[in-house]
Amino acid sequence: MDLHILDHKLRVTSISKTGLQQYTHPLIKLIFLRNRTRCKFFSLTETPENYTVVLDEEGFKELQPSEHLQVEGSTWLPLNVVSNGNTSSSSQAVGVTKIAKSVIAPLAEQHVSVFMLSTYQTDFILVREKDLSVVVETLVEEFNIFREEGGESVPVHSQDACNGLQRNGREVPHATVHPVLIPENQFCVMSLDPDTLPAIATTLIDVLFYSNSPKEGASVDQDMKCIKFFSFSLIDGYVSLVMDTEAQRQFPADLLFTSSSGELWRMARIGGQPLGFDECGIVAQISQPLADSDISAYYISTFSFDHALVSHFFKSQSKHMTK
Ligand code: ARG
Repeated sequence: MDLHILDHKLRVTSISKTGLQQYTHPLIKLIFLRNRTRCKFFSLTETPENYTVVLDEEGFKELQPSEHLQVEGSTWLPLNVVSNGNTSSSSQAVGVTKIAKSVIAPLAEQHVSVFMLSTYQTDFILVREKDLSVVVETLVEEFNIFREEGGESVPVHSQDACNGLQRNGREVPHATVHPVLIPENQFCVMSLDPDTLPAIATTLIDVLFYSNSPKEGASVDQDMKCIKFFSFSLIDGYVSLVMDTEAQRQFPADLLFTSSSGELWRMARIGGQPLGFDECGIVAQISQPLADSDISAYYISTFSFDHALVSHFFKSQSKHMTK
């Protein structure tokens, strides 16, 4: 299997709900006017707390500093696993489940903090640039590692025999167990041809920037059992959208597409207090047991919390029932 260190230097930021107005101009540019920016990696996720924006340095230049913009101090690099066909595993699982044992667990064992971003197309594992040598040394046994540089893939070799690495057991460090919230809404993971973005522009603007304004005829739904979660990303020309079925209904049905199974996902939000960026092993803690049971899961980290989208939520239960 190949592991690519992509040619993007990323910043992880958040815009406060009240500060959004100040940033709609650059965000619209980043989402819809691709020819006007050099940004190649852009992701925007709305959660109840804030808007998480992960973007490359070119995109980051568009965001003016203000009290409403929080910026994580480090530069993050996205890693991406490419399986070259000859996978020996029989697993059909997708998302973070596929890389739980090969990437997520080994990095957690070496105390490397990650920031996950699953999309319709693939899963990006963000690591801090300063951790890159540890990352390479940790994963070089399992992967052919390449660094993308100006459109070329350059093979990366570990600096020298892993002398700096203390290989401490195969156990994931005993991590804090964070509270998990399971909202009732169901989510879909979708994509669309980037050329059709203009056709969904008004809906996307409505959903992203006006979702909090009361809609005409909207029932006053006071039960907070559903959570606001909407994610849009435009990465290397590929669009990915994660939204709940209520948001999905607002989009024209013929433009968005999803995997043939068209399945819906339930969410587990991880964290009671904001998780910060230094703790490691959170993704590992969630993805390991899912991988053990071969349950597909997408995983989206945001500025404050982590979110696992799990399919077959009731699989084990229904198996039980058919017995
Ligand atoms: N750093 C965590 C880990 O290595 C995942 C990210 C949690 N933090 C966050 N702000 N979402 O497992």
